[in-house]
Amino acid sequence: MIIKSAEFVCSNTKVDLLPAATLPEYAFIGRSNVGKSSLINAMTNKKGLAKTSQKPGKTQLINHFIINDNWYLVDLPGYGYAQTSKKNRGDWAKFIKQYLTKRHNLQCIFVLIDSRHEPQKIDVDFCCWLGEQGLPFILIFTKSDKQSIVKSDQNMAKFRKALLKWFEEVPPMYLTSSELKSGTDMILETIHEINTGFVRPVLEN
Ligand code: GTP
Ligand code: MG
Repeated sequence: MIIKSAEFVCSNTKVDLLPAATLPEYAFIGRSNVGKSSLINAMTNKKGLAKTSQKPGKTQLINHFIINDNWYLVDLPGYGYAQTSKKNRGDWAKFIKQYLTKRHNLQCIFVLIDSRHEPQKIDVDFCCWLGEQGLPFILIFTKSDKQSIVKSDQNMAKFRKALLKWFEEVPPMYLTSSELKSGTDMILETIHEINTGFVRPVLEN
């Protein structure tokens, strides 16, 4: 899929205030600092579209971007940010989980995992929660430019094994680097395929 346009639409904490749920939507989620916002910029070829930072905790809201006037890409705040208070973490869980479970046009959740690390409990737990909710997800391993392909492959295989303790089947896994703009085509192709089958809902007034 070719990206012809990518524009910021709005930022929200309230699910009621999100744009009308008439277009297919895809969300990026994962640990703070894993590279969600950077990957959105790499995919859309638009530096600065989503705000990034070296410090974790940069994205705090539900950010909608409209792509090709046809579908939404959503940048979410990260989980596991140690310096956030317990109350803030509770609030995160509440509003993000509400968004993920209530957003009817959400077609797929892309869960980002840092390819440099062995499986982390917080990521495996999050995938299990998605599985329990019956929410479709795909795993995106980030920052592949930071180590050898062999190392990334090993960590991906370990993650697959960790999930197989809980799942009968493991969702697709893609290896990406925002720095090298690699792996983004596979994500865009997946989105294109899902978009093709999307039936626009008729909304009541
Ligand atoms: P929060 O919004 O805080 O949850 O973080 P995020 O997941 O949106 O991460 P963000 O995109 O802001 O990136 C965090 C840091 O990682 C930044 O310094 C990025 O430049 C860096 N980074 C992201 N992706 C890559 C990558 O593929 N390769 C390299 N080398 N650095 C990356
Ligand atoms: Mg971010």
